Amino acid sequence: MNVNLYERIWMWAAGALIAAFLVTVIATSLTQALEPPSHVETIDPTRVSSDPRFATPGVTHDARGTTAVVVAMTFAFTPDEIHVPAHQRVTFRITSTDVTHGFEIVGTNGNAMVIPGYVSQFTTVFDHPGEYLILCNEYCGLGHHLMSAKLVVEEAKP
Ligand code: CUA
Repeated sequence: MNVNLYERIWMWAAGALIAAFLVTVIATSLTQALEPPSHVETIDPTRVSSDPRFATPGVTHDARGTTAVVVAMTFAFTPDEIHVPAHQRVTFRITSTDVTHGFEIVGTNGNAMVIPGYVSQFTTVFDHPGEYLILCNEYCGLGHHLMSAKLVVEEAKP
């Protein structure tokens, strides 16, 4: 059978892509299991309020930057208003006391799945001061659509 050269090139290229995707899926599922991305830290979801890491949710500052500790539960975030500085590294640490929630800072790259038993963590920098909506983007029950909070990114005081 005569197959045109260009056709042959495209067939091999498409085949190589499929092979690469398969290898990626198999390798990551074998080596990384099903875990929150980039950070694996566990917590007893029934004892979040007495765990020193989450006993006092809120924002703290230290030499490494700003850290916002947030507890998600049906159907609210604690705290429900978070103030962080602009142009600096902000690390969010979030956990759930009940079911899987989402933590999406609308209009930014801040987005995490919040799974009971795990601490979800990500670090980001907000370049634009202002108010941002934080939404739960995992369906968590009848009050899911009510579950939101506010992020206020403030220009650093001189
Ligand atoms: Cu919490 Cu949806």
